[in-house]
Parts: sequence; C-alpha cells; structure tokens
Amino acid sequence: MSTQASATKDRGMPRVAVIGAGPAGMMAAITAAGRGAGVTVYEKNPFAGKKLRITGKGRCNVTNDCTPREVLDAVRRNPKFLYSAVYRFGPSDVMSFFEEAGVPLKTERGRRVFPVSDKAADIQQALVRKMTLSGVKVRYNTRVDSIYRDDGTWVVCSGSGKSTADAVIIATGGVSYPGTGSTGDGFRMLKRLGIRITELKPSLVPVNTAEDFAGLSGLTLKNVTLSVFHGEKCVFRELGEMLFTHFGVSGPLVLSASANMQDYPVAEYTMKVDLKPGLDREDLDARIIRDLSKYSAKDFVNSLSDLLPQKLIQYIVGVTGIDPRKKSRDISRAERGTLCEALSGFEITPVSFRPVDEAIITRGGAEVDQIDPKNMEVHGFPGLFVCGEMLDTDAYTGGFNLQIAFSTGRSAGEGASDIMRRKEKVKKTKKETKVDFTKIRVAIDGPSGAGKSTIAKQVAQKTGLIYVDTGSLYRAVGLYMARNSIDAYDEEKIVSELKNVDIRLEYSEGKQHVILNGECVDGMIRTEEVSYYASAVSKIPKVREFLMNLQKSLGDAGGVIMDGRDIGTVIIPDAEVKIFLVADAEERARRRYAEQLEKGQDVTFDEVLKSIIARDEQDSSRDVAPLKPAEDAVTLVNNRTIEDAVNFVIDLMKEKAQ
Ligand code: DC
Repeated sequence: MSTQASATKDRGMPRVAVIGAGPAGMMAAITAAGRGAGVTVYEKNPFAGKKLRITGKGRCNVTNDCTPREVLDAVRRNPKFLYSAVYRFGPSDVMSFFEEAGVPLKTERGRRVFPVSDKAADIQQALVRKMTLSGVKVRYNTRVDSIYRDDGTWVVCSGSGKSTADAVIIATGGVSYPGTGSTGDGFRMLKRLGIRITELKPSLVPVNTAEDFAGLSGLTLKNVTLSVFHGEKCVFRELGEMLFTHFGVSGPLVLSASANMQDYPVAEYTMKVDLKPGLDREDLDARIIRDLSKYSAKDFVNSLSDLLPQKLIQYIVGVTGIDPRKKSRDISRAERGTLCEALSGFEITPVSFRPVDEAIITRGGAEVDQIDPKNMEVHGFPGLFVCGEMLDTDAYTGGFNLQIAFSTGRSAGEGASDIMRRKEKVKKTKKETKVDFTKIRVAIDGPSGAGKSTIAKQVAQKTGLIYVDTGSLYRAVGLYMARNSIDAYDEEKIVSELKNVDIRLEYSEGKQHVILNGECVDGMIRTEEVSYYASAVSKIPKVREFLMNLQKSLGDAGGVIMDGRDIGTVIIPDAEVKIFLVADAEERARRRYAEQLEKGQDVTFDEVLKSIIARDEQDSSRDVAPLKPAEDAVTLVNNRTIEDAVNFVIDLMKEKAQ
C-alpha cells in the first residue's frame, strides 16, 4: 500500500522553486514540501539564513508572544494585507514550530521571544533541519539571475543552468544588510516582469547626528528612555538600550525610533535621552548632592563616576558648561539644576538616516495590491509568489518583522503547493470533452460505505461513462428472499428460488434502475434488512454465478464504471482502471449514518457501525470472491475531498484513454 500511496502523492506533485533561503523562503519551502511538493531552494550564499544569524545581535528575536491582532497593530505599513497570513500562522504557531523543532524558547521584556540558548544559529539550524527532513533540496552558492514563464511553466535561470518549476516563490529579502546577500535581486526579477515596487527606504536604521559622538563611540547605555519629538509632539518614547557610534546613534531604541521617524525629513525630529529614568527630578537632585559631598574635595569632573559611565562624564560636563576643574563642594544649586537637565534631557539632533544597506529592515517593496493576501500569489502571474521582506510591509522591532516573514512564507508555501490542483482544474475544464472514454472500463471495489458509489457517480457524470452499481443486484436478490420470508442463511432454498428471480438493469438519463421481476425496486433495496440479506446471499457461489453474466456483459460493452467487491478481480479482470477504495470503519459509519438520517431511518450510530463491521467481516471472509484488491489495483484512501478523489480517478482514465 505504501508504494501506491506514494504513487498517489507523485501524481500531480508540484515542483516548487524557492529563491532565497532566509526565514520566509525556508518557511515557504518547509510548508510546500510538507504538503507534498517537490521543493528546490536556490541560495546564493554557501549556507542558509545568513542574515537570520545576525539578527537580534546574534540572539534572534523570532517573534513576539502576543496575539495576531497585536502583531497587526505593530505593523506600520499595510497591516490589512497581512491579516489572513498572520491569523493563519501567528506567534503561537511560530513558537510551537520551533519548540517542536527542538529549540526551546524564552520570552523577555516587551514579550520578545528568543531561543533559550540566545543563539540565532539554533533557529537557523532548526529551519535547515526541517528543510532536510521534509525533503527540500537546497542549491547553495547558486544565484538566480532571472525567471520567466514559458507555456504555463516557470523557468528559473541560475548559475547552474535553467530548470523548470510549476511555482516560484521569491523570498530574497529587502535591500538592507547587503553583506548578507540582501542585495535586491528579487526586486530586479519582479521589476522585469512588470511588477510594481515602491521606493525602497531604510527602516529600523541607525541615525547620523549633528553632535560628534566619536569620543563616545562604542558606549552602550542600558535602561535609558529615548523620546523622539516632531515639534512639540512626542512620536516615540521607550525604555531600553542604545549605542553611540562614530556617526551618531544606533542600538535597539534608535532602530525602533527610526520606524517612527518616517513621516517628515529626519532633521525635523529631535531626540532626548533620559539617562536616569528611574529617578524623578527630586530624587536625582538628592542623588547628585550625595555624590558631590562624597567627592567634595575633588574636581567636579571627577565626582560623577558613580552616576555615569566614564566615557560620558566629559561629554555631559561639557554640555552643562560648568568648569570641570571646579571643586565639587563649590557646585551651586543652579549648576545642579543644569546637570539634572542634562541627565534627564540629554539632547541628540538627528540629521539623516544611515544608508539603506545599514538598515535592518527595508521599508517598501512589492506593492501589495498586486498580491493575493491569502497565498501571496502575484495577480496575473499564476504560480508566482512573493513573501517576507520583499512585500511592502514593515513593523516595529520586537520580533514582528520575523513573524511577518514566517506568516507570509507559510502562506506562500501553501499557495505554491496547491498550484497543481488549480492547474488540473483549468486543464479539466478545457480537456474533458476531448478524451474518448467510450472504451474505458473502470472497476471500483472496496468495503461497504467507503464512498464508491458517490465517487463512481461523479466520475460517470463528468466523463459520460455509465455507472453500474453491482451491489444493487445482490440487494435485489436479497429483497426477493426477504419478501418471501426465506431464511437468509438457507443456502439451498435461496439457490432453488433463483429460477423465479429475474433481474435487469435499465439506464435512463445516466441513472440506473433495478427491475426485479418487472418491478422497479430502486426505493426498496437500501434498508438495513435488505443490506443484511444482500450480504448473506452474496456469499453463495450460485448467486454470484447467477449475477455474473449480466455484470460481465455490461462490463464488456466498455464505457462503464462499475463498483462492487469483485469487479477488478472477477467481473472485468482486464479493466483499464482498477481502484480499491478504502476508508476506516468509523468514517464509513459516519457517512452511512448521515445518509440514513437524511432518509428518515430510525438508527443509531452504533448500530450502523456494528453492521458495517459485520458486513466487512462477511464480505472479506467468504470463500467465494472475497473482498480484496486486485493485484494491479490502485489503492485510494478516501480521506480526501470527493472532488480530489474524483479527479484522481479521471486522471487515471485519461492516461489509459490516450
Ligand atoms: O455495495 P453494496 O453495499 O450495495 O452491496 C451490497 C452487498 O452485496 C454487500 O454486502 C456486498 C455484496 N456485493 C458483492 O459481494 N459483490 C459485488 N460486486 C457487489 C456487492
């Protein structure tokens, strides 16, 4: 059965090319492969997740432990577009994904989620491992130059030549951190196809300042509050960590702030840092008085080492304008006030953002009105998907941007793996009438209630075959015996009665009618009693023989789909298509129970289940024509949608009809 199962999987398995092994691309690849696609990832670096490894200062803030709604609230651009993706695969899904992949996680301040190990490499390796386990092939050191569409198939041109795919997922990231490979290759490919890209700007980017902080370069301030103003209006205020650099300021607080400094020229904003946010004005003054008296005999510049990092002292003293050589005991109340001011309102004057290649996140990207928010497919380009940072969406820091990469990667992976089903649909509507099925014989065997008749009827309807329900012949014999009060297990009596039984099948408008001794008995053969009789009489070789010729002659005519128990093994052993349809007993009982309730029959679920199990037992243990798959039958497990199963059978028919 396993080979048949995989044969089922291979059929219609889409080939998906993913360009870029970053978080979005890897998630897309894992998702598509997990849903049966054959996935190849193209990565120009010698390993996957290069930028991922340096995010969160090498600790990787994978997501934010919040609700999907809160993720959307943290999205600055196009939150509505992300609704479906984030609700379908939200923070809790990302966390379970990594925990299940063997990476324990922890939640820190601001609900930022990190690996317990504090190693971004653990996240990267988990994704790579998952790719391997799902059968994803990764071509490292392979840069994709272009993609184009040729007769419904995508062609991927890379350093290693051309290859084809049913779907392409572009996940090459933004243009930030080009050293990690994010050089905008994907944008170029999209532009060439005519897909609109908005202006690419840095977001989450360090800031050049008017002040020369070169002397403070490398100094990190922890637990400070950074406020950003536009005029009087405070546009950002957060407690955290920031960093002085040779050009200005950086660090998590500054990066977050930069996302809020997008509406006006950067130079219109002002920044203030409260170096002692835990102390109010009075407490701060008291603290300064204590330090000044402790170091009363020392120069002012040497009295601040308990309060401030060494590097900062000179700078702050400079800001206050107080003579650094003045003795601490001589510092006046007004001078203390100036110092307090400088400490709680340390001023920074932003001039510009650092260039986009130093930004963590690219603002802008593929305009989202061209993309289907459900599966990230580009409208008008069937089979082309875009995800992750390439989309014109971005969020504040806190794990939200990676969450967006995972959510949109997931959606794209789902969309790409569904591509064949959609292609098939298109093909089917186009080709259905062209294939000649008049010679085809389809046998569908399987236990009672597996869904044979439902599938057979639909196949017949779609392909013009005649559907022959052979079970109804046994049912008609059973009905005759029941009506004549013949013991269901009195074999001799049943056989001797057969001479009085005349059964015919008639077809009109694609429907089969069972005629027993001249009477149409369609409405009488589906009761539990008749089912019981049918099962009993079908064990008798003479009954089977009695019905054999009728069935064989129907089968021989071709253009039929017959369901039963021995169609592929006995009635038409050389049928072009043989299916053995199975479903577990409970599932079958559920279906039958629902049918019977619909017909107003008074049964319980348990009764239906028991009778199904009993009939399975009878049908498969009888000496003559026991229920079993023909050797060359394809086993079809009916746990899929009816439409899928029907299409599966029609595909097999097409192969044989050609
Ligand atoms: O498919 P069904 O439930 O309508 O079939 C009624 C009975 O007839 C069932 O107990 C099995 C038997 N049967 C059979 O033995 N061989 C067939 N080809 C069709 C039905």
